[in-house]
Amino acid sequence: MHLIHTTVVGVLLTLSLSVFAGTAVEQRIIDEALTPLYSPHRAATSTGKVIPEHRFDDAKVCSGCHSDIYREWRSSMMSHSWDDPIYRALLSRASKASDGALDSFCTGCHTPTGLMTGQVTRADNQSPPSVNNPETDLPGVDCESCHNISAISGIDNGSYVMNDAGEKRVKYGPRQNAQSPYHETAFSPLHTESAMCATCHNVTHPLNGVPIERTYDEWFESPYRTAGIGCQDCHMKPVQGNSAIMGPERADRATHWFAGGNTTLLEHFGHQENAKRARALLQSSATIELIDPPTSLTAGQRTTLSLKITNTGAGHKLPTGFPEGREVWVDIKLSDANGKVFYRSGAIKNGKTEPNTKNFMVKLGDKNGKKVEVEVWRVTHIMSDNRILPKGHALVDYAIDIPADVQGPVAVNASVNYWPFSQAFVDNLLGKNKLTVKVETIVSLAKSFKITPTKSSPERLAKH
Ligand code: HEC
Ligand code: HEC
Ligand code: HEC
Ligand code: HEC
Ligand code: HEC
Repeated sequence: MHLIHTTVVGVLLTLSLSVFAGTAVEQRIIDEALTPLYSPHRAATSTGKVIPEHRFDDAKVCSGCHSDIYREWRSSMMSHSWDDPIYRALLSRASKASDGALDSFCTGCHTPTGLMTGQVTRADNQSPPSVNNPETDLPGVDCESCHNISAISGIDNGSYVMNDAGEKRVKYGPRQNAQSPYHETAFSPLHTESAMCATCHNVTHPLNGVPIERTYDEWFESPYRTAGIGCQDCHMKPVQGNSAIMGPERADRATHWFAGGNTTLLEHFGHQENAKRARALLQSSATIELIDPPTSLTAGQRTTLSLKITNTGAGHKLPTGFPEGREVWVDIKLSDANGKVFYRSGAIKNGKTEPNTKNFMVKLGDKNGKKVEVEVWRVTHIMSDNRILPKGHALVDYAIDIPADVQGPVAVNASVNYWPFSQAFVDNLLGKNKLTVKVETIVSLAKSFKITPTKSSPERLAKH
C-alpha cells in the first residue's frame, strides 16, 4: 500500500514538476517516451508488445464461475463503454476530425482490450452503429481490462500496465488467499485503491494538457481521501457472499454495479435495476436548504430567496466526469394560491436549461474564446468550473418580484436536478427523437409563504 502511495505521490510530483519545468509539448514528449506503444494513449503492456487476442477471455467465460459479479458488471455503464451510442457518435466525429490521430486515445479507455490486442480498426471508430442495435463485437471495460492490470505508470490518460502472462493466466485481485482452478491469482494492493480508477477517470487533452476530466484529482483533494474512503467504498460496496460459485463465503465481497449518474443510458440498455441504484446514489449526493427565509413575502415588492446546496454524498465534485454533458441545476417555481406560476428559473427550453438557470458545470473554451459544446478535442482552456466540491456547498440567490395583486399563500418549490447531457447535445449527436434524456431530481424542497399586502395595495387601502 505504501509503495503504491509513494508511486502516486512521485508521479504527481513528476507531473507537476514537468508542468512547471516545460511546455505542453515537452510534457507530451515525456508522456510518449514513457508509453510509446499506444500513443497518444498512455497504456503500456508488461512485454512492451501488443497482446495477442487469444490471451483475453470474453466476460461470459468468467461468468461461468463469477456469476453474481458478471450480472452486476453487465448492467453497468463500463460494460457498455464501447457500444454506448453517445460515445460512438462522438468517437466517429473525433476520428474523422483528427484523421484517426485520436483513435487510440479514445479506445484505450473505452475498449481497453480492443486496443491492447490491436483489434479495433479505424473503420470501427468511424462507423457508429444504429442507436437501437449496439454492436458488441468489442468489449467495453470488462473483467480482463481491470484484472490484468498489474501496475500503473501515472495517474491519467490510461496509464495502466496490462500484464501479458503468456499462456499462463494470472488475475490480479484484492485478496491474498484466493485460489481458482481456472487461473492463477496475484494479490494486488492497487485494486483496493482509488489509483486503480485514476488511470481512466482523469482525462487530459493529449496535445495541450488541458485537464478535461478530473474525477480522481477531485477525490484526491477531498476530505474523503484523508478519511481513507476511496472509489471502491462507494461504487463497489461490499456484501456478504462468495465471489465465485465454488469459492468460499466472504464477509465483504466487492460488488461490481459501478452505479454512477447516467440513468438515461442504463435505462436505454434495459438495466432498470442499476438505474434505480444510480438514482439512489444521486439522491444521496446533496441537500437543499432555504437560508434565512423571510417570515412572509410582501406583495408588489422584490424579495431575495437564498438556497444552499451541499454536496453531502459525492466523493468528488457534483457533478463530476464527462464535462460536455454533466449538469446539475436548480429548478425553482413560485406559484400563487391558484397554482399559477409567476416565477420560474431552471426550466428546459429548446433541449437545454433556460438562460440564467443557476447550474453547476464546467464550461470548456476554444482558441477563439468560444464555448465548446461538443467537439472536446478543440478545447484549449477551462472557461469556468463552478461544480460543488466534495463536502462543500454553493449558495444561490434569486431576486424575485412578487406581483402586487398576488393571491397568497405563495408556494415555493425548488429542486436540484441532474442530467448526464442535455437533450440538445443528444439530438446534435444522434439526430432528433433517437434517445430521450431523463431528468433526475436529486433533492427538493417545498415551502409556503403568507403574503403581506404592501401599503399601496388595494386591500390595504380598502381597510382605511
Ligand atoms: C472455473 C471457475 C472460474 C473461472 C472460469 C474464472 N474464475 Fe476467477 N476465480 C475463481 C475462484 C474459485 C476464485 C477464488 C475466489 C475466492 O477465493 O474468494 C477466483 C478468483 C478470482 C479473482 C480474485 C482474486 C483476488 O485477489 O481476490 C479475480 C480477479 C478473478 N477470479 C478474475 C477472473 C476473470 C477475469 C475470469 C475470466 C477471464 C475468471 N476469474 C474466470 C474461479 C474462476
Ligand atoms: C463518498 C462516496 C463516493 C466516493 C468516495 C466516490 N464517489 Fe463517485 N459518486 C458518488 C455519488 C453519490 C455519485 C452520484 C452523484 C454524482 O454524479 O456526483 C457519484 C458519481 C460518480 C460518477 C458518475 C458521474 C456522472 O455524472 O457521470 C463517476 C464516474 C464516479 N462517481 C467515479 C468515482 C471515482 C473514479 C471515484 C474515486 C476517485 C469516486 N467516484 C469516489 C459517491 C462517491
Ligand atoms: C473497472 C474495473 C473492474 C472491472 C470491469 C471488473 N472488476 Fe473485478 N474488481 C475490481 C476491483 C478494483 C476489485 C477490488 C475491490 C475492492 O477490493 O474493494 C475487484 C474485485 C473482484 C473480485 C474479488 C471480489 C472479492 O471481494 O473477493 C473478483 C472475483 C472479480 N473482481 C472478478 C471480476 C469479474 C469476473 C469481472 C467481469 C464480470 C470483473 N471483476 C470486472 C475491478 C474491476
Ligand atoms: C480502463 C479504463 C477504466 C478504469 C480502469 C475504470 N473506469 Fe470507470 N469508466 C470508464 C469509462 C470509459 C466509463 C464510461 C462508460 C460510458 O459511459 O460509456 C466509465 C464509467 C464509470 C462509471 C459510471 C458513470 C456514469 O456515468 O454512470 C462509474 C461509477 C465508474 N466508471 C467507476 C469506476 C471505478 C470505481 C473504477 C475503479 C475501481 C473505475 N471506474 C475504473 C473507464 C474506466
Ligand atoms: C483516460 C480515459 C479516457 C479517454 C482517453 C477518453 N475517455 Fe471518454 N470517458 C472516460 C470516462 C471515465 C467516462 C465516464 C465519465 C462519467 O461518467 O462522467 C467517459 C465518458 C465519455 C462519454 C460520455 C458517455 C455517456 O454516455 O455519458 C463520451 C461521449 C466519451 N467519453 C467520448 C470519448 C471520446 C470521443 C474520446 C476520445 C477523443 C474519449 N472519450 C477519451 C474515459 C476516457
